[in-house]
Amino acid sequence: MIQVFNYIADIQSFLNAKRDSGYSVGLVPTMGALHEGHLSLIRRAKRENDIVVASVFVNPVQFNNPVDLEKYPRTPERDISLLESAGCDAVFMPSVEEMYPTQVTDHYDFGSIEHVMEGACRPGHFNGVAIVVRKLFEIVEPDRAYFGEKDFQQQAIIRKLVSDYNINLEIVPCDIVRENDGLAMSSRNMRLNAEERAIAPMIYKVLHETTANFETMSPAEMKAIVLKKYSEIKQFDVEYVEIADETTLQTVTDWKDSEHARIFVALQLGPVRLIDNLRIY
Ligand code: PAJ
Repeated sequence: MIQVFNYIADIQSFLNAKRDSGYSVGLVPTMGALHEGHLSLIRRAKRENDIVVASVFVNPVQFNNPVDLEKYPRTPERDISLLESAGCDAVFMPSVEEMYPTQVTDHYDFGSIEHVMEGACRPGHFNGVAIVVRKLFEIVEPDRAYFGEKDFQQQAIIRKLVSDYNINLEIVPCDIVRENDGLAMSSRNMRLNAEERAIAPMIYKVLHETTANFETMSPAEMKAIVLKKYSEIKQFDVEYVEIADETTLQTVTDWKDSEHARIFVALQLGPVRLIDNLRIY
């Protein structure tokens, strides 16, 4: 049976007993409304740790858009049963008051990696992510923490957090899980209507097709082609398309300057803002 904890003190005493028995702990932070993408992280964590803890917490301080926070899907009962069937041992589902009894004023500066893409479009977002993830690390003290490449830039921010503050754990990157039609799984997908859902796979299809022959074009040409293909889909309102180095997250202007380049996109489709990314080489 999965154990459900709403209070920090309770999950800490559960985990202290496990650690005293020599068990390793893997943490999978989430905001709930779980799907196969989240569950793939749980399964991986279960293979690599004795005890797996998931957190389900819709973190208000990382939402820069109040409507997005209000409409964020919440399915706690379903989440608990999905976690249990994926082999998760414990879930931490705190209230906002439990996590933030007083207002948090921490301010992080992650330098150049936070000033691009999601950081540029969602002011304060990564600061809020860092606040909650650091708290979760301090509460759970995991040996390993699992993050999906769906949120590639978030993962880079968390790596920097861990290195800047000497947090003693391993960050494990996990592949993007997609629907059969290529759409990256996201809790926000459930807010798409049938028509929007039918065209959403074009986000990935365009990335996949255009990046296949990357050597025949420059990064700027690739970006222009992707933007043009997206502009032909009237429901897409593109926020950015960027081609960036996987380590620095800075724009790649010449393929030879980057060991691994990735293409990143954010766009609005109906009521939701969707992101995706794909390694080019
Ligand atoms: P959330 O969007 O719920 O995602 C939780 C974790 O699942 C993240 O590491 C995310 O990258 C991963 N994930 C989501 N969709 C995925 C997919 N299709 N394939 C693989 N992994 C996927 O990211 C957050 O929550 C929050 O910012 C959080 C880190 C929990 C802090 O509040």
